[in-house]
Amino acid sequence: MFKAVSRPLPDLKDWRFSVDQWGIAWAELDREGESQNSLGRRPLEELAEIVAAVETGARDKSIVGLVLISGKERGFIVGADIREFADIKTETDVVERLRPVTALFDRIENLPVPVVCAINGFCLGGGLELALACHYRIATRDPSTKLGFPEVKLGIFPGFNGTVRAIRQAGAPAAMQTMLTGRMLSASAARGMGLVDQLVDTRGALPWAARKAVLRKRKSKPAGFVKQLLTKWPVRGLLASRMRSEVARKAREAHYPSPYRLIDLFEQYAGNDEAMKAAETRAFAPLMVSERSRNLRRVFWLSELLKGQAPKTLGWRPQRVHVIGAGTMGADIAGWCVASGMEVTLQDVSPEQIAKGIAAQGKLIARKFKTKAQRDAAKARLIADPGGEGIARADVVIEAIVEKLDIKKTVLADVEGKLKAGAVMATNTSSLQIEDIAAGLADPGRLIGLHFFNPVSLMPLVEVVRGEQSREDEIKRGAAFVAAIDKLPLITKSVPGFLVNRVLTPYMFGAMKRLQEGESKERIDEAARAFGMPMGPIELADTVGLDVCAHVAKILNYPSAGSALEQLAAAGKLGKKTGEGFYVWQAGKPVRDPRRTDPQEMEELGRALIKPLIEEAQKCLDAGIVENADLVDAGVIFGTGFAPFRGGPLHYKASITPQPPVHAEAAE
Ligand code: NAI
Repeated sequence: MFKAVSRPLPDLKDWRFSVDQWGIAWAELDREGESQNSLGRRPLEELAEIVAAVETGARDKSIVGLVLISGKERGFIVGADIREFADIKTETDVVERLRPVTALFDRIENLPVPVVCAINGFCLGGGLELALACHYRIATRDPSTKLGFPEVKLGIFPGFNGTVRAIRQAGAPAAMQTMLTGRMLSASAARGMGLVDQLVDTRGALPWAARKAVLRKRKSKPAGFVKQLLTKWPVRGLLASRMRSEVARKAREAHYPSPYRLIDLFEQYAGNDEAMKAAETRAFAPLMVSERSRNLRRVFWLSELLKGQAPKTLGWRPQRVHVIGAGTMGADIAGWCVASGMEVTLQDVSPEQIAKGIAAQGKLIARKFKTKAQRDAAKARLIADPGGEGIARADVVIEAIVEKLDIKKTVLADVEGKLKAGAVMATNTSSLQIEDIAAGLADPGRLIGLHFFNPVSLMPLVEVVRGEQSREDEIKRGAAFVAAIDKLPLITKSVPGFLVNRVLTPYMFGAMKRLQEGESKERIDEAARAFGMPMGPIELADTVGLDVCAHVAKILNYPSAGSALEQLAAAGKLGKKTGEGFYVWQAGKPVRDPRRTDPQEMEELGRALIKPLIEEAQKCLDAGIVENADLVDAGVIFGTGFAPFRGGPLHYKASITPQPPVHAEAAE
């Protein structure tokens, strides 16, 4: 950084503020005691002091410009400080919180000297809104630099007037698309859209570029005339209705109203900045205090809670993984580990299966890595290993072979003899008991379960299963490994079905029973989706495979003899994979009998369908399968996709259970 000539405002805690020999003011955000910068109350109050100092300096000509930059090695600003949202209870609270911030951003925009924002790493949500209030934005090409508006994922939209400024800079279609999807943009994509003005290669190059931009009085240009035209009526109306139908394909208004409110805001006010700013605050407030947004924030917090299941200070960094079994699960687990940067050896009794499993990872690798060099490096890290040579070098060995106890015992006993000290030994079994598999080992305390979900690349959760004898150290390392491959670990007891399959089973079998009793599969599936499930239970059964469902029924003692499930499975109609199960499948989609459904009826049926899942979740909590109610909710949301806006099965149960009246004495 440049030599500071003066340090006005020495008492700041979250910012460092100095003025250099050229009269450029540097405001460096480095939140005290935090690993990342977020915009909470104190950093915003301190920013207001900085802006006041720059206003004074600009008047007396001692300051010629301002640069906003991060003092953290990684990351600019990850967004508003979500932790502080909890004490915002009413719409009036929201408006009172927003007013000083939007006024402050206006003051930044109106500063008479150039204001440059220098961005490296995450620049999200409120951080991007602040950047957009500056006159000029420079970002690094570093792959860690990502810009975006993730607010819709929390049931809101940008509320610091970012809707107005994003549209002004990028034009309506691109800006709205970014805000409606919550997608993160690379620095060059953001530059292409006009959200960023200049790119530099490294973090080290930022201060020089920023200084030059201030001295040359660089100013970003708003989107051109053609893009602005799209904010004019009637084009705006057409664009809005196209956006509405695009959003409707992904999310129902009843479940996720925020993108719809954002489109309304655009449709009514785009092109009139001042009116749109005021309307943004009015439309934002009810979303912010809604139950849905609260629940979506809870989901974010639950994901952090799961990350916390992995110890941070283990001093162990797994790098080599050996996977045994190159079938549906093993090959995808291997591919995912490679995509997370690990080196993986893949073993199977069938060399053809290994080759097929490796080839199948091409898509994931292409999605994860942008350059050919990165893709080639990833492919080179996925090594066919029919002889199991990789076991001795592996930090983690995962067994994902056929679900047969004897074969698993033999294979793992062999692994145990070759494993290096300190390596994790895990099974991906979905229905066997860890202690039964471990019974064949010299050291049964070494084996843990790492239960991945299908499809591996899409399902964020991995259950880390503690067998009766599993040692705590092994569990900790298992959880650390799961975190290292960017999945969410959930430590569960070794009981049939663990947590996730245990709660899913009564729900799916309850739905199949209704089907057997004459309810239509289309109505059942629609009712579950109307509740907020990503897929109906009958479609889910077909997707998982009816043979797998029949097997689970046996393990968990569900009576399925003579059922439609058993008959279909016996006839080889196994669902999606064979082209027919409960549904006939065409081009990867179930063929549905189109019928009109009554929303009220669907709501009632949806609640009834979900009831067994909620009851089972409560039983899992009572039986201590995971540590507490929040972890039950987290596991069920991230393992099954349970309607996130409902906050989890137990949270939902509490929200619909009438609270007992508070007695006068108790209240006193
Ligand atoms: P799969 O049948 O697709 O693959 C099993 C693979 O293991 C086959 O390629 C087979 O050749 C290989 N194999 C069999 N014996 C072997 C041996 N002695 N040494 C090396 N390779 C051997 O099975 P899938 O579905 O991948 O399941 C594997 C494991 O994952 C099972 O324990 C299953 O319960 C579990 N699981 C399955 C899920 C699913 O949705 N399919 C979900 C979660 C867990």
